[in-house]
Amino acid sequence: MHWIEPLFPRFATLAASILLVAAAGSPGAQAQRRDTVSFDSASHVFRLDGGDTTYAFGVNENGEMQSVYWGKRLSGADRFAAVKASPAAAAFDLSVTTTPHEFVGWGGGLFVEPDLKVTFPDGNRDLKLRYLSYAKEGRALSVVMKDISREVFVTLHYEIDQETGILRRWADIDNRTNDSIVIEQAAAGTWNLPRGTDYRLRYLTGRWAAEWNLQEQPIRPGKIVLESRRGTTGAQNNPWFAIDHEGDNDQEHGDVWFGALGWSGSWQIAIEQDQLQQVRVTGGPNAFDFGYLLRKGEHFETPSFYGGYSDHGIGGASRELHRFEIDSILPHHPTPKLRPVLYNSWEATEFNVDEAGQMALAEKAASIGVERFVMDDGWFGQRNNDHAGLGDWYVNPQKFPHGLKPLIDKVHSLGMDFGLWVEPEMVNPDSDLYRKHPDWVLNFPGRPRTEARNQLVLNLARQDVRDYVAGFLDKLLTENDIAFLKWDYNRNWSEPGWPAAGKDAEKNVYVDFIRNFYSILAELRAKHPNVEIESCSGGGSRIDLGVMRLTDEVWPSDNTDASDRLLIQNGFTYAYTPGVMMAWVTDSPTWVNQRSLSLEYRFLSSMQGSLGIGANLNKWTPEDFAKAKALVTEYKAIRETIQRGDLYRLMTPESNSPYSVTETVARDGRQVVAFAFLHSSAELYPYPRILLHGLDENAMYNVKALAGRLSDGTPLQGSGSYWMHHGVDVDLRGDFQAAAFVLTRQ
Ligand code: DGJ
Repeated sequence: MHWIEPLFPRFATLAASILLVAAAGSPGAQAQRRDTVSFDSASHVFRLDGGDTTYAFGVNENGEMQSVYWGKRLSGADRFAAVKASPAAAAFDLSVTTTPHEFVGWGGGLFVEPDLKVTFPDGNRDLKLRYLSYAKEGRALSVVMKDISREVFVTLHYEIDQETGILRRWADIDNRTNDSIVIEQAAAGTWNLPRGTDYRLRYLTGRWAAEWNLQEQPIRPGKIVLESRRGTTGAQNNPWFAIDHEGDNDQEHGDVWFGALGWSGSWQIAIEQDQLQQVRVTGGPNAFDFGYLLRKGEHFETPSFYGGYSDHGIGGASRELHRFEIDSILPHHPTPKLRPVLYNSWEATEFNVDEAGQMALAEKAASIGVERFVMDDGWFGQRNNDHAGLGDWYVNPQKFPHGLKPLIDKVHSLGMDFGLWVEPEMVNPDSDLYRKHPDWVLNFPGRPRTEARNQLVLNLARQDVRDYVAGFLDKLLTENDIAFLKWDYNRNWSEPGWPAAGKDAEKNVYVDFIRNFYSILAELRAKHPNVEIESCSGGGSRIDLGVMRLTDEVWPSDNTDASDRLLIQNGFTYAYTPGVMMAWVTDSPTWVNQRSLSLEYRFLSSMQGSLGIGANLNKWTPEDFAKAKALVTEYKAIRETIQRGDLYRLMTPESNSPYSVTETVARDGRQVVAFAFLHSSAELYPYPRILLHGLDENAMYNVKALAGRLSDGTPLQGSGSYWMHHGVDVDLRGDFQAAAFVLTRQ
């Protein structure tokens, strides 16, 4: 339903000049209702309720959209006061800069981070957005704003999730002027926290083979910018944040406000404590080198910025996010398919793939219960190493003289489905594709083209490149019975020029590239609905809520050392569900640290996510096969709990802790799985007692060791109360030891 709500006489004329859709029902009657999305016409406050969260914002006397409340769900009877803009703080900080805006254009005397900055062709760069109208439907609300004199409209979109209270926000910028405008900065919106000075920011940093490090720092006056300027999501920062109160060091208690951007291009999230101690978080595409030419009649939709609140600490915040990702983001939500146990050839054979070798590995993989066999890099073009072949997507005739069919048939005959590695957005200069189309890569004419891993980035923003990529992938999937693509992306951008676009539109590459990437994924999924896709970028460099809408799983890191992985996986789960986190069991000593780890330790580390095997099975002993087969069987029995359940971080490996314990409770509460790891014991100290969470105090649970030993005297059954308050002792002593146990509710 849409209607115009002229709130104040000064905006009535403006509002009346635009008619969206005739009102269905009277605004007055709607305002009385307390549903998921409501509007109080007395205070001019919009209110969204979902899960245990209330979010409220309103229209102030200046017609600006102003934040009112974000936190624990309030009573339906609670009413907010009329929204009033914040006063100026002396001549230096005018009201526009002291008011906590939902979405503000750069104009007037605004000095905090803007949501939108625009240059008009006449040189004007002032933008003052004012409320115009709103519409609501179910759990969605949209609010239209317009510049005071120019025909630039912005629609703010809000959707609240009923179960978790997570809000999705995005903005749509509509150029109805008679000329092009340039968008220099465009955020999805701004989140404002309750005024306070004791906040702490958590965020994720990393690099290749060392992704997902959790960082924390106090929020002080000034601005912290998390960002990627890399053309892609990047691992240096991930587009996720969480804010709580300093001193709340418990995983399970305290207020946490968190958010994540759904964008796989360059992005920024600015966390600013302004001069009046207001904390604002603004996020969208990175403003650095940005300049989107929006022609007349066109509109620009920002990426979505998701935000949530939990009063159950950072643990509660990540459980909400996990649930939301499974129920509302992933393909096939709310029931995305469970991840099959897969085998991947990369660490075993690298580029040396061929029909006989892959068939031999497939036989061995099938023997331990693997469900999907994935052939990695090296199967196409003249791809014998990373110097050549990228871009030439024909099957290499020396390695596969009869095409892929014999291998795929063999894999099927072994009861597995078949997956294949691709890196569609890249080209080696030593390739037929590049020799034919040197103009297809990102470049500035006459300037060097910087190679990384001997490759250049195809400019996916170009329609011809987009069509080439979509075309070869469609052909590959049409001609072969392929169930899964591992979609890799092994470098970041350099020289991001798009000469063919002309100098005014060249910077549109930052957005058009990503939109085309998404559109190819969407098109392939529509044409080949059974195909699943993994997002990989040399590990975890392209993982965000944007790509996650279109891919079924992700590769968090090339670092497959099962001990390093504990920290990597721990960090990953702050933002993303273990249900999509691929984790391979690889060889020991590990290539990463030359560290020796038992097969059981390696399995238990990987079983905390989506289990895969990436070891060279040609080197395994019969004992290894027997052990692996038993653990794969165990994994299948706990898979649904691990991939869909509620995760509790009981002991984190952060800060060099020798202990790491995770616990996952199945959604229906019937099964509980815990993994415990010891880096190395010292001075005869026993392993700390493990106190479980999230059980039913009064229900009875049986316990069983899945691997390792529970201490003597552990009862075979006990109440939820017993396991949560008395706890479980595991006998772990030595270096790199691990145990796992399962509780089953009676
Ligand atoms: C980087 C990926 O992360 C690896 O798993 C592997 O697929 C290689 N690329 C192949 O080139």
